[in-house]
Amino acid sequence: MNVTLQTAGFLLRPAQVGDAEPIARYLNDLDVSGNLARVPFPYHLADAKAWLRSRVPGLPAEETNLTIELPGEGLAGHVGFHRGPQGPIIGYWLGKPFWGRGIMTAAVTASLDWFFDATSHDTIYSGVFHFNAASLAIQRKLGFTETGRSQLLCLARNAEVEHIDTKLTRSVWKARAQ
Ligand SMILES: CC(C)(COP(=O)(O)OP(=O)(O)OC[C@H]1O[C@@H](n2cnc3c(N)ncnc32)[C@H](O)[C@@H]1OP(=O)(O)O)[C@@H](O)C(=O)NCCC(=O)NCCS
Repeated sequence: MNVTLQTAGFLLRPAQVGDAEPIARYLNDLDVSGNLARVPFPYHLADAKAWLRSRVPGLPAEETNLTIELPGEGLAGHVGFHRGPQGPIIGYWLGKPFWGRGIMTAAVTASLDWFFDATSHDTIYSGVFHFNAASLAIQRKLGFTETGRSQLLCLARNAEVEHIDTKLTRSVWKARAQ
């Protein structure tokens, strides 16, 4: 879906062809890609261009990606949804220059508000590699609960890594949002 959301501090918008350079710049950083399951390292401009080609119009809500665009600073990161074995999964990343400003808490909040309104899913899944305290803090703050541990392939590290599995239910989200 082509979704655009305006938050108090920034825009969430569909990815564009011109995004390849900043995406490659920020993802070619093991501190970012090493916390993600599906992003290789090193990460080249060609990887960003190939990913952007996959963002064809008309994708369903469960495959939507939202680009975080900061006024005056441009592309800062992404929030994305994809399909998992149990249901939809939310993932996200922010370029290192933008960490620690509350941006991802706000971006995930806006994305979840949109997703639960746009779909009938009762549960959304996520998780973090076991060392990712900042991302776990975001998820706990937003109402995600831990469901267990698994081993998940981290492409950038070319290794299976212990993963804390989490989920968020619609009822918890709606109770929190009121
Ligand atoms: C994880 C990431 C998304 C955080 O983005 P961010 O905009 O800096 O996050 P926010 O500022 O909104 O919130 C981070 C929270 O983690 C907390 N935090 C940060 N470092 C922490 C640490 N080492 N231990 C515990 N909590 C920590 C912050 O205090 C903050 O919580 P608060 O708002 O209650 O104070 C960003 O660092 C990133 O993209 N990292 C690389 C990719 C990644 O990890 N993606 C997620 C994969 S699951």
